Amino acid sequence: MEKVLITGPLIGDSVNKLNDHFKVEYYKDEVMNQEAFAHAVKEAWGIITMTSLRVDQHVIDSAQGLKVISNLGVGCDNIDVACAKSRGIIVTNTPDILSASTAEMGVGLLLAASRCIIEGDRIMRAGEFSGWKVDLLLGSELNGKTLGILGCGRIGQTIARIAMGFEMEVLYRNRNRLTHELESRLRLTSVDFDRLVDQSDFLIITAPLNEESHHLFDLKTFERMKSSAILVNIGRGPVIKESDLVIALERNLIAGVALDVLESPPNMAAQLKKHPNVTLTPHLGSATTEARIAMSELVIDAVIDVYEGRIPNHLVT
Ligand code: DGY
Repeated sequence: MEKVLITGPLIGDSVNKLNDHFKVEYYKDEVMNQEAFAHAVKEAWGIITMTSLRVDQHVIDSAQGLKVISNLGVGCDNIDVACAKSRGIIVTNTPDILSASTAEMGVGLLLAASRCIIEGDRIMRAGEFSGWKVDLLLGSELNGKTLGILGCGRIGQTIARIAMGFEMEVLYRNRNRLTHELESRLRLTSVDFDRLVDQSDFLIITAPLNEESHHLFDLKTFERMKSSAILVNIGRGPVIKESDLVIALERNLIAGVALDVLESPPNMAAQLKKHPNVTLTPHLGSATTEARIAMSELVIDAVIDVYEGRIPNHLVT
């Protein structure tokens, strides 16, 4: 029997579907570390990968029998897809089913940051609340403001739909412009990056990580942003240059930031932890039971599809 390596826990019992066809090596308690992964992958026919594991050329070269890399997540920046393709290895991911949960997380962070919800919670727990005060943790309303969305795929579009409820003006920047029909249905305006940065009161990053987006938010970008702006990152950490973000916050170039993703997880610049205008969450974008069950099913089904000679639903090309 061929070996399928599942590099971390999945939700639900879809793993059992593999037992008839494969010898399954399942890390069901914790995601493997890179070293253990690099070792175990050598004998694998298929792997189910987690975002935190790097599948680079070295890993791919060492896995001579590898046929499929089924990634739990939509972002595949952890995988050298070009290299996998050149070796005839199929790469799949889990889009669509996580759009609602990731978009809701983005809007949640927008609200948390704009209304100082986490700081308010901290004050209550620390016993620092001494009674109602007219200027305690003044936030800013989303209602009627301009929201910028960087990367307007399915997650960005879902955010735009939610933003309609706040009567926001929504600008977006996407590699490919959306259709007129979609733009008018979601009341979206396509703009270039400079206008997105200059005009947004709130800016959400959902863009994938690639050469174009790497460190797109550096000091030069922060200098262009409104000093009242709030930035939310639910895409990939390295889209923001973290050291420049620290400088931007120190200089009050922007009003606040909410990060669900870090440049070099799980590490982060120490200053970020201390800053009251920084909201931090541990990569929870798709972390709902609904999304994670569906993602777990998709990664298993993709492996079975390849094994049975079908084209999986979500090929990464
Ligand atoms: C994704 O799908 O890319 C999420 O960030 C989970 O890794």
